[in-house]
Amino acid sequence: MVEEGSVGAGEDLGPEELEAALHQVAAWAASYRRTVASLPVLARVQPGAVRDALPHEPPPHGDSVERWLEDLDRIILPGITHWHHPGFLAYFGITGSGPGILAETITAALNVNGMLWKTCPALTELEQVMVGWYARALGLPGDWFGMITDTASTSTLVALTAAREAAGVDVREEGLSGIRPLVLYCSEEAHSSVEKAAVVLGLGRRYVRRIPTDERFRMKADALDHALREDRHEGRLPFAVVATVGTTSATAVDPVPAIVEVCRRHGVWLHVDAAYAGSAAVAEEFRWALDGCQEADSLVANPHKWLFTPIDCSVLFTARPEAFRRAFSLVPEYLRTDVTGVVDLMDYSFQLGRRFRALKLWFVFRHFGLEGLKEAVRRHVRLARTFASRVDEHPAFERLAPVPFSVVCFRVRPPGVNDETALERFNLALLERVNARGEAYLSHTKLKGKVCLRVAVGNLATRERHLERTFELLCEEAGLQ
Ligand SMILES: Cc1ncc(COP(=O)(O)O)c(C=O)c1O
Repeated sequence: MVEEGSVGAGEDLGPEELEAALHQVAAWAASYRRTVASLPVLARVQPGAVRDALPHEPPPHGDSVERWLEDLDRIILPGITHWHHPGFLAYFGITGSGPGILAETITAALNVNGMLWKTCPALTELEQVMVGWYARALGLPGDWFGMITDTASTSTLVALTAAREAAGVDVREEGLSGIRPLVLYCSEEAHSSVEKAAVVLGLGRRYVRRIPTDERFRMKADALDHALREDRHEGRLPFAVVATVGTTSATAVDPVPAIVEVCRRHGVWLHVDAAYAGSAAVAEEFRWALDGCQEADSLVANPHKWLFTPIDCSVLFTARPEAFRRAFSLVPEYLRTDVTGVVDLMDYSFQLGRRFRALKLWFVFRHFGLEGLKEAVRRHVRLARTFASRVDEHPAFERLAPVPFSVVCFRVRPPGVNDETALERFNLALLERVNARGEAYLSHTKLKGKVCLRVAVGNLATRERHLERTFELLCEEAGLQ
């Protein structure tokens, strides 16, 4: 017989044990946050090291929290690349935050599933209110419908499914066979998630038109117009355009107002991928980035990219929720309810189960307030621009793109290294050496065929000294003064 409040076979942690364990985990999390800057930012484990340190079989009997935490430190921590490290400057340097950690803990404690309003009214309604807060914070229409998904990849897939439904082809009932090829448009700089959505939707990658960009990596609206005309002329069915606000490589902003015009002229859906840069619009001076987006049919922005919300949290807005309902609503008997006048979020997406992600967005807004969010975004942009100035001032550095937000694309051109192949080899090797030092982690991309290194500021702990040190490391490893 197991006493109430103690661990027994088949029993959960009792409330007292849970409380004690939460204190231990709280101490662990605080200590991690305190010391993360002294750890090597990029994991140094060899492939397979974590797997090989773990038993092949699950344990026959449970053991204690202390043992799990010991193994966490011994086995897992060395295999962590520290996204929380202030020197994490790769991809889009994202950051969680204290309020996000607190909300994730409560989310797990509640463990609710908001598939229907009835299965968690508070989740559904808080999610609707948070979508409205986020829209207003960015200067987008506050009455847009929206939902929170896991990632921008999911948000874009869901939006493009609704766009296809709105195009008047009955793929939902009839499938794709026998219909004209549907064509999707995005710039050559658009994220791979757009093309992946086309794969999942069964459109085929060859029907994704990658529209050329100008010298600042922005989609050419006239080339888009031309491509749409050509496809129509040849009997294909253009159905959606994806414009990007903050491209993944150079953070370029497509000319959305001109793209809106083209979409209107051709009667196609406009989805805006503002996964990274959308959140910059919390600060008034970056509102320009969303010019024209008020006219879009749908838009995704990720609080987990640049709004200090722990991954995962992506917000999908739409002016046309009825298209989403038509595409997705399918209610079996066991999910039917008698509640009317409410939103059942399962009707607007393919997923049924729904985490309580709105809670962390709420806590983030409550901790920072709009003014705090603006300040953090501004600080990141200032840091990136200071880094860009150093790049511009050094004769052996070359900047390869404008810096509208918090990402700097550049390469090093040491004396005597001139041809493109040698420059590419040099910069990729330099990247490896800098990353191996453990103090900073940078990633790379290609712009118009040129390899470039990227410094992406997005972490709340990143300060001037971290970027100064990163510049020093680049100089040291490149053999420059
Ligand atoms: C512009 C853009 N869109 C979409 C994505 C995909 O984001 P997620 O990881 O949330 O699917 C990214 C990722 O970096 C991105 O940069």
